[in-house]
Amino acid sequence: MNKLKSLILAVTAILTGSTAWAYDGSCLWLSGGDNDNQAVITVPKSKSPTVAIAAEELNKAWHGEPLRLEIKRDKNLGNEGFRVYRDKKGLVLSANNDLGLLYGSYALLRDNAAGKAIALREEIPAYNVRVLNHWDNLDGTIERGYAGHSIWNWNELPDVVSPRYREYARANASVGINGVVLNNVNASSKILSAEYLAKVAKIADVFRPYGIKVYLSANFAAPMQLGGLKTADPLVPEVAAWWKAKADEIYKLIPDFGGFLVKANSEGQPGPCDFDRTHAEGANMMARALKPHGGIVMWRAFVYSPADADRAKQAYIEFQPLDGKFDDNVIVQIKNGPIDFQPREPYSPLFGAMPQTDQMVEFQVTQEYLGHSNHIAYLAPMWTEFFDYVSPSSLKAIAGVANVGNDTNWTGHPMAQANWYAFGRLAWNPQLSSEEIIDEWMPMTLNYPENTPKEVTDGLKKMMLNSREAVVDYMMPLGLHHLFAFGHHYGPEPWCDIKGGRPDWMPPYYHRADSAGLGFNRSSSGSNAVAQYPAQLAKKLDNINTCPEEFILWFHHVPWDFKMKSGATLWQELCNRYQSGVESVETMQRQWTAAKPYIDPELWNDVNERLMTQARDANWWKEGCLLYFQQFSGMPIPDNVTPPVHTLDQLKGIKLGISNYECPTPELLNSKR
Ligand code: GCU
Repeated sequence: MNKLKSLILAVTAILTGSTAWAYDGSCLWLSGGDNDNQAVITVPKSKSPTVAIAAEELNKAWHGEPLRLEIKRDKNLGNEGFRVYRDKKGLVLSANNDLGLLYGSYALLRDNAAGKAIALREEIPAYNVRVLNHWDNLDGTIERGYAGHSIWNWNELPDVVSPRYREYARANASVGINGVVLNNVNASSKILSAEYLAKVAKIADVFRPYGIKVYLSANFAAPMQLGGLKTADPLVPEVAAWWKAKADEIYKLIPDFGGFLVKANSEGQPGPCDFDRTHAEGANMMARALKPHGGIVMWRAFVYSPADADRAKQAYIEFQPLDGKFDDNVIVQIKNGPIDFQPREPYSPLFGAMPQTDQMVEFQVTQEYLGHSNHIAYLAPMWTEFFDYVSPSSLKAIAGVANVGNDTNWTGHPMAQANWYAFGRLAWNPQLSSEEIIDEWMPMTLNYPENTPKEVTDGLKKMMLNSREAVVDYMMPLGLHHLFAFGHHYGPEPWCDIKGGRPDWMPPYYHRADSAGLGFNRSSSGSNAVAQYPAQLAKKLDNINTCPEEFILWFHHVPWDFKMKSGATLWQELCNRYQSGVESVETMQRQWTAAKPYIDPELWNDVNERLMTQARDANWWKEGCLLYFQQFSGMPIPDNVTPPVHTLDQLKGIKLGISNYECPTPELLNSKR
């Protein structure tokens, strides 16, 4: 959007009392449509609703030269790619089909909005399947959702189709997302009932012109729960027939249905192993039902049945031997790390270990383990770090667990919109850097005027780029993981050890603190999880002196007086990292304060309040973890680290509700240092 104009509009809105342009975050990074550019835009004669959308978007916001959109055969561009070039008559956007033109239009508008010169180029997406996974339940709640309730109004559908579905599709298409799994992986079979499929079909109709396919999470026991069969055994012909009939029914309603996502034999979900069959046998049976229609199965590898004493090894143990056994329309969906979306994990060793099997990565956009919607944690650095280890070209597809809800601004924290944006952009082009992505997103979304001083915008950029590392430092530095409070995964509870609970759900299982040191020994003298990695990397990780320090407590039980690269002992370094995390948030607060004159007041206040919460929580994490670990190290907190103002007992006394939606407001944490 033209910033000067948006500022004038905002001021006019204030003076006239009109609220039409007041900030509420609902526009995301997209243009509100204040275009007075008269540039001629020529579009192909077509009845395609997709071309109509492209034209509408360009008319709304294109600030460039005359532009011609053309459908033109080009074998390099595939289904979704586009080319931008100039001929004698001016600038041309061409593609093999209307969808390519839509993606190209959004790309041109992005260049425009970021104030960039139009680059002549050819773009094709890195993956054909770029999906957001919603963990939305049919009752409107969202598992690990922090932006309100689900945007799907199941009760109103199919009669009432919310205009928000279209806005949502537009936002996704604008960043290249082309698939949406509508429901939680902990799936209710009901979504596959005729009643619900009619509702799903309505959403699919809205998504179609935006190039977005609908997928559903399927419960493996649906033939029993919904179909009344006695078994869901994948090798029983009646079961396979039930899925085939179900697929046929779905495709009658939704001819471009994408397929199923399945969480099987994981955290209590049913699966083929209940019938002594393998994951491959289960996945293939479902894939064969979809195959005639062109659908796929995304089969999750998030499993941890206790096949080994180290949870980090379990998915590999279960899945790696199945390499080559999956049908060609099955993609194994693997979380980026071997445990569960922690602030920092090494990559899952399953990547690259199944050369005969299609694999996709599952990132978590929603901040289950990164401060929910209270903390700024820009996640592109986490995802590009994954791609530093796992070559994007080794993957077939990409998925992100959505952070979207029915809050007006979609994502709860206004800055969390950047993660939705970044996920889409990386799904289209995993070579992009975190910085390039934030350079696009920031001016489009924060709408500061063009004359905003560079040191202010640089400060905002740094605030975003450093935010994930700040979270790692104040929550779980040096490879620590899973120190979260039980249930809600918000605050620290390294001491939590509920008797009778699964040991691998308890923090002491992961941090292994004792008087000798800290960390999980996964080296060859311990669980030997390192051996699941390629030989050269395994060797590096195995040696405490060569293991990257950001993973040292993930792979080693490190003595408290171990000399770190900085020259400090492990204990001192741990204290320094927690302190540094707290200080990083203070820096973020200063960077945000410096931007106050240039940012819409509503937006500024909202982020400012959340930063105060983040600063409070960072300190809570620091004090809780250091006081707890100090009991084992027996060492003093160094002078350069601000001493805790609470006692460990006080911090242990903080009990938050386990609801996803509850915000922590314990009195204790509000006490000043
Ligand atoms: C985590 C998360 C669960 C979720 C699970 C999954 O364990 O806490 O809520 O169901 O991941 O990815 O299946």
